[in-house]
Amino acid sequence: MAKIIGGVASTHVPAIGKAIADRKQNDPYWKPFFSGFDYVHDWLAREKADVAVVFYNDHGLNFFLDKLPTFAVGAAKEYRNEDEGWGIPVSRAVAGDPDLSWHLINALVADEFDITVCQDMLVDHAVTIPLTLMWPGQAWPIRIVPVSINTVQHPLPSIARCLKLGRSVGRALESYPHDSRVLVIGTGGLSHQLDGERAGFINKAFDKLCMDAIVNDPDALTRYSIPELVELAGAQGVELLNWVAMRGALTGAVTQAHRNYHIPISNTAAATMVLDNQPMAQRRAA
Ligand code: DHB
Ligand code: FE
Repeated sequence: MAKIIGGVASTHVPAIGKAIADRKQNDPYWKPFFSGFDYVHDWLAREKADVAVVFYNDHGLNFFLDKLPTFAVGAAKEYRNEDEGWGIPVSRAVAGDPDLSWHLINALVADEFDITVCQDMLVDHAVTIPLTLMWPGQAWPIRIVPVSINTVQHPLPSIARCLKLGRSVGRALESYPHDSRVLVIGTGGLSHQLDGERAGFINKAFDKLCMDAIVNDPDALTRYSIPELVELAGAQGVELLNWVAMRGALTGAVTQAHRNYHIPISNTAAATMVLDNQPMAQRRAA
């Protein structure tokens, strides 16, 4: 059976790609952020994931405002990146895992999630930047199943709905009859707003509340409506939905292994978290 080893949450700010290309990791501006990944690298080297389910939001590379599914799941052998206009290098392609994709797709539809299935899918900076941060300078040693959540064009799915989506994915992973070690990734956030009167908005107190709740009580976040989330986290801070879905997929006993929070990276409160997941069956056996 598959084992859900844990979760990683990471910002996906494109400027990080430029900092990496320019080798600025040790510059004073960037060091507090990049050094937050030292723990992640050790953890990944120890935990050796085979495959990652990546909850993220597409920003207009694969979907645009004319057709934007609330939830979409990739079922491709490979996912390519293309130039999005950020002035960062185009990433290498990421290997897919069609067998796991179809397992998740069947389970989600059986669980009454009306998802869009993408057998051809480009992945944008919201996938490639976190992978580059997690496995810098190397061929990515994992396959992925991308799950895109609409955080871009309202109406957005509620926090409760995204938590349920994650939990449905988690149950499906538990029933996957292969010995894969599965990592769950949530990208984006935390508080940020890129445009309008509140451009540059960051809310440190709310970010802390969200990070604490992501570890110990994700259901507590369901009290916020999407308009309240926009108010508290900024128009793009709604990318928290990806973190919520990631947390939902961790079906065991969850503990925080690592947290880094740094303000600002570009316009964003950059937060990194690693969560350990102790599967229930193992807990019973222990
Ligand atoms: C920034 C943040 C994002 O989430 C994004 O998708 C693009 C840019 C930023 O802070 O620059
Ligand atoms: Fe974003």
